[in-house]
Amino acid sequence: MDTIQIQGGRRLQGTVRVQGSKNGVLPLMAAALIIPGKTVLKGCPRITDVSAMADAMTDMGCRISRQGDDLIIDATGVHTSRVPRQCGEKLRSSVLFLGALLARTGLAILPYPGGCTIGARPVDFHLEGMRRLGVFVYPDGEWIRAVGRPGGGSCRLPMASVGATENLLLAASCCAEPVTIQGAAREPEIVGLCEFLSAMGADVRGAGTDTISITGVEAPGPVTFRVPGDRIIAGTYLLAAAATGGRILLQGIPSGMLADQIDIYRQLGLRLWENRQGILAVREGSLRPVQCATAPYPGFPTDLQSQLMAVAACAPGESRITETVFEHRFQVAEELCRMGADIHIEGQTARITGVPRLAGCSVEAKELRGGAALIIAGLAAEGITRITGVNYIRRGYGDIAGDLRRLGADIRDVRE
Ligand code: EPZ
Repeated sequence: MDTIQIQGGRRLQGTVRVQGSKNGVLPLMAAALIIPGKTVLKGCPRITDVSAMADAMTDMGCRISRQGDDLIIDATGVHTSRVPRQCGEKLRSSVLFLGALLARTGLAILPYPGGCTIGARPVDFHLEGMRRLGVFVYPDGEWIRAVGRPGGGSCRLPMASVGATENLLLAASCCAEPVTIQGAAREPEIVGLCEFLSAMGADVRGAGTDTISITGVEAPGPVTFRVPGDRIIAGTYLLAAAATGGRILLQGIPSGMLADQIDIYRQLGLRLWENRQGILAVREGSLRPVQCATAPYPGFPTDLQSQLMAVAACAPGESRITETVFEHRFQVAEELCRMGADIHIEGQTARITGVPRLAGCSVEAKELRGGAALIIAGLAAEGITRITGVNYIRRGYGDIAGDLRRLGADIRDVRE
């Protein structure tokens, strides 16, 4: 069984370049399916979610190859509107093939995407949005069937859903009449998708705001696009530096992209500077407790909530973290308590009392960001921490052990 093994207690020092964004590249891959030609995604991360998405697209007729850090997708030969079943089971982002296939072919047949341990993760906003665009959508047991070219119109999302916003943008990308999405998500990944759709010929306005208008293009052209750095990985490494103390320089993150996180890190006692070189983070004094509630962008990201909890476990005093996006995203607390953390879950709020030192032991990652949190805890802990469930971590982190070793950590990715 593969494990990540950490000898804790080392301060992080050094420079690391952050990989391309998982949540940025997956909607771009779906968008590439719309183009009957070539797409080049520069700086595409080497993670298993990208491989799973590429496998499904290959089964659908795409020719996909890698050239160094670039992923080349030729979707000329797409020959089906049915998404392979195993993709839906493995990958939440498979739901984005709905909008892409409707834009390309006017038909989509796809498996319901798996929920996962962080919540039920329904797709009702996606399906209702497609109906608002005139698409005939009917669930058929374990499959979603959708028929019809999306038409113009407007739809209002009940919540600022990232995936539903992306799906509606994809569906509208070849529609001659304008589509307006109200209550849209504002994450940087949405802005990236809007930039990609503009590059293929669509006219997109309002990216990054809660109201986006798009007029599609009849013949989408080939696109070459650089995947932005992963802001969640950047935040993971900043929180690791907060936990261990030290001084790190992160490169590859566009300026201002961490606007939703900086305040919390300063609360913790991390000092941050940003310039053309990258983001410099220093923690010299002691950690401080934090009060935080996750929220859709520009709020503190839910994808960093577990990692923040691991740091708060080492901060003297009482911290409170409230999770407002997913209904079941405190699972890692149990494993952190096995390392000596003092965490009490009260509904959607975790109350954390810092302890002088966590103790390394064997723990299990049960989902992607909880796994990253256990790595942070292991870096700060006394002794050796052995983490199983590494397959979850590899979904989003291409080489977290290598990155952290470059920052001086004693960490090994042991493939047994
Ligand atoms: C995206 O998931 C991200 N995944 C998630 O990152 C991230 O946590 C989430 O956005 C929020 O930022 C990718 O981009 C691949 P949502 P998504 O639709 O689109 C409810 C990670 O760790 N909802 O914004 O699925 C939903 O249940 C992953 O990298 C409905 O009720 O998230 C949740 O409570 C985890 N009905 C809330 O909205 C719907 O139709 C926000 O979900 C859709 C969503």
